Amino acid sequence: MKRSFLYIVLSCILFIATEACQEQPNVEEAETKEVKRSLNPNGDSELAILMREMYEEAERIKEQVKKGEQPEIKLDHGKILTAHATEPAKDNSKEFKDFAKMYLANLDQLQKANPENVEMVFQSLVESCMSCHQQLCPGPMVRIKKLRVANNQ
Ligand code: HEC
Repeated sequence: MKRSFLYIVLSCILFIATEACQEQPNVEEAETKEVKRSLNPNGDSELAILMREMYEEAERIKEQVKKGEQPEIKLDHGKILTAHATEPAKDNSKEFKDFAKMYLANLDQLQKANPENVEMVFQSLVESCMSCHQQLCPGPMVRIKKLRVANNQ
């Protein structure tokens, strides 16, 4: 008699415990959805995709600069100010915007460069990629370094 009462109490506790946990999967689901919404279907952020395009463009411009050709800017680099990053804090900070504006100013200089200074202006463009990355996203720095015209390690 005593033992079956204990079972009833125990199963009540178990029932309450599982009930209380039921909310958890829903919370997790909501969180996953939240993260997914800021990403595009392939799972990369808008900013990450833009960065890859910027990398390819810079690689192409580097070759033009080495050949003494006028750099041709094809990409809309201004999107750097509005594209969303994987971690929202990264693209929202004042620091990010300041680095982005510095980068765009360098790009503007590159468009106005002449054959005598184009290599130097391109170099400072790469350094403006580097300064933002040093502060906010050090991972790709090894790759970005390869864009340097001079002292190419
Ligand atoms: C204003 C800051 C800033 C500037 C300037 C900047 N980056 Fe980035 N870059 C970032 C941030 C932040 C990320 C991370 C994006 C994310 O994960 O959503 C990133 C990501 C990258 C990535 C990795 C993309 C991937 O595949 O995930 C590469 C490569 C890259 N940047 C190259 C460059 C190059 C090349 C330049 C200059 C032509 C440059 N970046 C200029 C902030 C910057």
